[in-house]
Amino acid sequence: MAASATKQSMLMLASLLVLIGVTTGSFYDSFDITWGAGRANIFETGQLLTCTLDKISGSGFQSKKEYLFGKIDMKIKLVAGNSAGTVTAYYLSSKGEKWDEIDFEFLGNVTGQPYVLHTNVFTGGIGNREMQFYLWFDPTADFHTYTVLWNPLNIIFLVDGIPIRVFKNNEANGVAYPKNQPMKIYSSLWEADDWATQGGRVKIDWTNAPFSASYKSFNDVDCCSRTSIWDWVTCNANSNSWMWTTLNANQLGQLKWVQDDYMIYNYCTDFKRFPQGLPTECNHN
Ligand SMILES: *[C@@H]1O[C@H](CO)[C@@H](O)[C@H](O)[C@H]1NC(C)=O
Repeated sequence: MAASATKQSMLMLASLLVLIGVTTGSFYDSFDITWGAGRANIFETGQLLTCTLDKISGSGFQSKKEYLFGKIDMKIKLVAGNSAGTVTAYYLSSKGEKWDEIDFEFLGNVTGQPYVLHTNVFTGGIGNREMQFYLWFDPTADFHTYTVLWNPLNIIFLVDGIPIRVFKNNEANGVAYPKNQPMKIYSSLWEADDWATQGGRVKIDWTNAPFSASYKSFNDVDCCSRTSIWDWVTCNANSNSWMWTTLNANQLGQLKWVQDDYMIYNYCTDFKRFPQGLPTECNHN
């Protein structure tokens, strides 16, 4: 009796989670547009969001919730054509002077030349952990999924489910790890033609404005979050599936493939930049 009652309530919980999963897909429910005076907009009853950039301003949005660990997916389609000098940033960040941050930044390029995916991790307000990649597809032709899996063991950056970067918890070796400060999700499209494309040599061509990036299929079902600073952070029922995950053998193979063939910059091999020695975590991968 008791067992079947438990089973039934488990089933009810499972279908409730499916419902939550559906509703979290709505950008109206999950995000606030915070910048750009009408240049960012939500369409299709909450299923699509676009940010635009023109000569006057860029635009951006942020999540209503704050996250303390999670597996968060967003599908993004980047500025097409001549996107040189534009940057689409998509990141998680906490607040304060000693903030933590997990960054995806997409640096545009002239037509036909590859985007650069720039990644970074900040702990206690300090970053300097850049890794950059080309992508194995044209990120402007279609939507692709960009995922942050952040748990107590590691931060995994994934593109279409393929791990491209791992930042391990190296507290045992004295490296700070983001685990105490909740983070919001932020995204924006802005101009950075002083540095973004080919080191700032290629400027924005405003005749192509407005530039536009699109977002859909946001999924934060697997997370620990709170909706206001007055609340406790609570985790979803399924947290065992992602909370203690690290890469399996197959994923390690994928990571190696990406890092061998598509990585164009790795701070951990930049000996010129760190003449006194590489950052500690570089020796504990
Ligand atoms: C743009 O294209 C050039 C030439 O292929 C390449 O060197 C550069 O890494 C690309 N990306 C950026 C952001 O400059």
